[in-house]
Amino acid sequence: MNILVIHGPNLHLLGKREPALYGRTTLKQLDAMLKARAKALGAGLRCFQSNCEGRIIDLLTANAGWAQALVINPAAYTHYSYAIRDAIKALGLPAVEVHLTDISKREPFRKISVIRPVCAARFKGEGPGSYLKALDYCVKNLKLVRK
Ligand code: DQA
Repeated sequence: MNILVIHGPNLHLLGKREPALYGRTTLKQLDAMLKARAKALGAGLRCFQSNCEGRIIDLLTANAGWAQALVINPAAYTHYSYAIRDAIKALGLPAVEVHLTDISKREPFRKISVIRPVCAARFKGEGPGSYLKALDYCVKNLKLVRK
């Protein structure tokens, strides 16, 4: 199985960004952890980060033929990007939403996810562990769902 991982805006700052909230793990370290887990699971992995909504949609489109599952942390776009939500639905790629923090326990605007209805599952509040659980979930549950 091939898994596409997309990190949304400001996640390039991981390690330096509000470490009390997001931890000290850098994006490079996070991607290395994901590569190791994907290898152990026998899955292919591509990881991308973008700060731009349109670029995220282009990455989804460009990789939809290769991937059988999507793991996405849309970051702030989670809360208002109908464009990313529509792209996930349009491409028919089985998706899992992830967050480093527990968005249900933060500011009211973060409790809303417009992405959730087009995702099979969500993992949140476990730092890099949220992503690792999402990879495990993809391999266990999304194998036979392709389009
Ligand atoms: C986040 C939560 C979002 O509310 C925030 O805008 C982010 C990161 C998380 O991983 O906890 O940038 O998606």
